[in-house]
Amino acid sequence: MKIIVTGGAGFIGSHIVDAYIKAGHRVAVIDNLLTGFKKNLNPKAKFYKADIKNLALMEKIFRRERPEIVSHHAAIAEVVKSLRNPLPTLGTNVLGTTNVLLAFGKYGAGKNWKFIFSSTGGAIYGEPKKIPADERTPAIPLSPYGLSKLLGEELIKFYSRQYGFDYLIFRYPNVYGPRQNPKGEAGVVAIFGGIMKRNIRPTIFGDGTKARDYVYVGDIARANIIVLKRRKNEIINLGWGKMVTDQTIFDAIAEETGFSASGGKETKPIYAPYRKGEVYRIAIDARRAKKILGWRPSVKLKDGIRKTLATIH
Ligand SMILES: NC(=O)c1ccc[n+]([C@@H]2O[C@H](COP(=O)([O-])OP(=O)(O)OC[C@H]3O[C@@H](n4cnc5c(N)ncnc54)[C@H](O)[C@@H]3O)[C@@H](O)[C@H]2O)c1
Repeated sequence: MKIIVTGGAGFIGSHIVDAYIKAGHRVAVIDNLLTGFKKNLNPKAKFYKADIKNLALMEKIFRRERPEIVSHHAAIAEVVKSLRNPLPTLGTNVLGTTNVLLAFGKYGAGKNWKFIFSSTGGAIYGEPKKIPADERTPAIPLSPYGLSKLLGEELIKFYSRQYGFDYLIFRYPNVYGPRQNPKGEAGVVAIFGGIMKRNIRPTIFGDGTKARDYVYVGDIARANIIVLKRRKNEIINLGWGKMVTDQTIFDAIAEETGFSASGGKETKPIYAPYRKGEVYRIAIDARRAKKILGWRPSVKLKDGIRKTLATIH
């Protein structure tokens, strides 16, 4: 199939591109390299350095490619930044998503005509009463980033009705693995891993009890393969359904790296105040993904951390 992956030079998008190419699909990537990197690009993918905020450019690319599938991963994916300065996040994640939908509606084609979207389970449910949160949990985002993903979902449903393509919306957990940008604000494994390997103390915002549901990026790419031909017009959570605290991540990386800072005496992180807009605790109930896709995560946290650390130098 012919597939466009937006954000395909980024962390998750680039793993999905690799998986699609390995499965024999023809892939074109759209990315403006804001947080993505050329070195992440699969050499077998066609690359368009382009901004999804530019509708005319999106139409030009989609008219040329006429993709059957679009996997939409381009976004500004930072919670705290979106609170400080919401417009760039809303511009890319809402208007940019609209542009991709309009171009796909006009020039997409094929019997599996489908829009796949990277929404968020970690930032869309806010602080849910019941954890793990399933797909019926009310969406009450705490940040413009979470809101932008919710608006993206609604735009997709609307344009799917307008144009007749199918959609598949994934609500991702905290995804981690090789190529995650340590300069971002949320890639805890990448951030801690990078500095603890150099025996520098990382900062935990809060007392270490803040918790997330961590899934290895290879498992996420596998889900994106499964849905190419199967299921339509679904919202599907991905996750383990388990909360993992910041402290647990720190301890696991400390054990793996033999971390000890300040001349070998210091083995603790720095604890700093919580950051506004960040969810305190969340885990994602992915029982539907298992039921209807036969998907569940496979890479255990320790193994995933080891694989990730092996790629950080
Ligand atoms: N990492 C996670 O844990 C997680 C969790 C839930 C959802 N998501 C979603 O998954 C997607 C990928 O996230 P990621 O962690 O790989 O982040 P990332 O920053 O590595 O990837 C985003 C990519 O989009 C590109 N991009 C940004 N603005 C663009 C624009 N205006 N035009 C074209 N390209 C643009 C960036 O250059 C980058 O390559 C995002 O949509 C994110 O919201 C990620």
